Amino acid sequence: MELMPFESHSIEFPDGTRTMPGEPLLRDSALCRASLRSLATFCPIEDPANPPRVIDLGCREGGFALEFAKAGYEVLGLEARESNVARCRLVQDAHDLPNLSFVVDDARFVGSYGRFDAAFCCGLLYHLDRPVEHVMALGAITDRLLILNTHYADFPPSPYFALSEMTEHEGVLGKWYVDLPPGVSLEEMEASRGASWGNEHSFWVERRHLLETIRRAGFDMVLEQHDFLDDIPQEAPSWWDEQQRSQFLGVRTAAVVAAV
Ligand SMILES: C[S@@+](CC[C@H](N)C(=O)[O-])C[C@H]1O[C@@H](n2cnc3c(N)ncnc32)[C@H](O)[C@@H]1O
Repeated sequence: MELMPFESHSIEFPDGTRTMPGEPLLRDSALCRASLRSLATFCPIEDPANPPRVIDLGCREGGFALEFAKAGYEVLGLEARESNVARCRLVQDAHDLPNLSFVVDDARFVGSYGRFDAAFCCGLLYHLDRPVEHVMALGAITDRLLILNTHYADFPPSPYFALSEMTEHEGVLGKWYVDLPPGVSLEEMEASRGASWGNEHSFWVERRHLLETIRRAGFDMVLEQHDFLDDIPQEAPSWWDEQQRSQFLGVRTAAVVAAV
């Protein structure tokens, strides 16, 4: 099978073709395995004929959406860039999964797609200029579980990212990040396939404010999931100090307990 180049999600098709030959497969990553564990724990498939609905926001090349669909969930991947969704459609065409679909849209319009049992928001929040509004929007459409993997801002500056001073925006503390060059054209924005969409500056919410934002969005249990790292003892300190990134879970416990 002839493929357009993939740059992020290493996927193996049923015929053995790989999107990124030589690269470790996304399905084997600690992040993918951990996210599937969260889904199985807080959003289990009780009736395979009527599986929970999952939305994958900013789904890029479709690798996580594919793994969730292979696990039996009804999955919608939402992604702003046509060029990324073209790759998602290749993934979709190569697999016989009627429970997997993709849509080109801005995550700001997530409210147009109905209700979901779980929302997977990985690598997107720190590309938005109104992240609090987005977490609130996810709270409004998600019945059980939010999986939020994101950078956040902390008081000691990250050595890796050039962020502004800590400042207030949307009623929370955080730092601004220049995501796209000033005056970027539509073509250039489309070509920056992992960056923000429609905003040149993104706002990274301060960690404690982020935790509280998840709770305010309606998730009464807020957890941090460390097993998305390959090696917690060795990697974790550098991730927190350098990357200032983690995986957070918001759970609506009433829905989960009632479902068990
Ligand atoms: C860093 S990548 C993360 C991709 C994927 N979720 C992952 O973890 O591998 C960010 C993705 O979000 C998409 N994106 C950025 N802003 C978006 C928006 N406002 N609406 C929808 N997608 C957006 C980008 O096109 C890109 O595919």
